[in-house]
Amino acid sequence: MGKGRCIGILLHGPPGTGKTLLATSLAKEFNSSYFIIDGSPDLDRRDIEGNWELFNGDTKFNHGPLTRAIEDANSNGISFIVINEINAIRESEQISLNSLLSESHINLISKGFERYSLKESSKLVIIGTMNKGVIGINKLQEAFEDRFLVCPEITYPSKQKEIEIAVKLSGCKKMVAETVVDAARQIRKQAIKDFSITKIFSTRLIVNFCLIVSNMSPEYLRYNIENVIINKLGENQEEKKSIAMILDGKLFEDNLKKYLNIRSDVKSCVKAGLSSQRAPEVKIISNFKSKVEKYVFELGNGKYKNKNGSLMWKFFEWFWQEHRTSLKDYIQLTEKLGYHKVYKESTGHSHLYNGEITLIYIKWLYRNRNKDLMDFMRRTCPVLN
Ligand SMILES: Nc1ncnc2c1ncn2[C@@H]1O[C@H](COP(=O)(O)OP(=O)(O)OP(=O)(O)O)[C@@H](O)[C@H]1O
Ligand SMILES: [Mg+2]
Repeated sequence: MGKGRCIGILLHGPPGTGKTLLATSLAKEFNSSYFIIDGSPDLDRRDIEGNWELFNGDTKFNHGPLTRAIEDANSNGISFIVINEINAIRESEQISLNSLLSESHINLISKGFERYSLKESSKLVIIGTMNKGVIGINKLQEAFEDRFLVCPEITYPSKQKEIEIAVKLSGCKKMVAETVVDAARQIRKQAIKDFSITKIFSTRLIVNFCLIVSNMSPEYLRYNIENVIINKLGENQEEKKSIAMILDGKLFEDNLKKYLNIRSDVKSCVKAGLSSQRAPEVKIISNFKSKVEKYVFELGNGKYKNKNGSLMWKFFEWFWQEHRTSLKDYIQLTEKLGYHKVYKESTGHSHLYNGEITLIYIKWLYRNRNKDLMDFMRRTCPVLN
């Protein structure tokens, strides 16, 4: 990754196993921009390379993601192109990426073969994602596939990892995640064994189901099981029956009800104002995230970030003035990073005043642990893109 030039990575595997997430996370890891192309059979070479438009009686060329990514890589050192469902792109259009993948340049056909080249020192990473077995979709043209350097197969995480993912992304209780993952794995097993279920229980579905049930009253559990799992996975009555039988056999609903009721006690404490700190993490994050989105929208992209991609201090100042409680609740979650102790040791002060996060602590985090704070805001408890 350290050296320049263009490389291709082809991630393949079943739907909802985190392929796109992995690709965009990799770009974020490098503090890089990424350009997303959603593959489809209607995608035309001109959508990817750029096209001409009549404009005020004249013509202007609208650059496509390829040239924009090359320019971005040339000025910032690295850039990413993520092509979702790459095999949905027609074979004849896949060719437009060939010279970029092997010779690190493209010739824009519609612009008189004008050449755009990647600098020797710049890196362009093209990550394609695909589900190999999907019917009705184009094959990858052999010469095109051959140009991708690595082709890792992405599949379901191990049981423990999947539980961890569900807890982290949905904010549900571990017991809830364990129950859902266990049922999902059983349904997957059945699907492979006798083909009585054709759609597979994805990690995405696990996360979504955990998110929904842990944010809705347990009285809706039955509907959620039906609408989020059974109707979605079951193609016909037979399949729906098989899925329902597996879930019944595992006492899925009864067990979940038990664990969700515990959670609703916690919720009522929060409602009664006993402890806002115990409010589900996911709510704090989504509350703060919606405010961040509004701020970003109003301010316009680029006016709240430094060149290196980290946030400007004025971002925090503004939230301190306008949405102090949301900011404090959110920063409270940085307990995961374990810097409260480091702060105490290095400054002699507590990060709390009257039980609440102080502005000085936020400033300290911002100045002294900026990269970790940005990482936290992008990935651990994501509120930024
Ligand atoms: N391995 C994983 N780690 C973390 N989150 C995951 C993982 N797999 C799935 N998810 C969850 O599922 C969501 C969807 O993942 P993503 O869109 O990356 O899947 P995909 O493999 O690209 O699916 P598709 O083939 O349908 O495009 C993620 O946003 C995340 O919530
Ligand atoms: Mg995807």
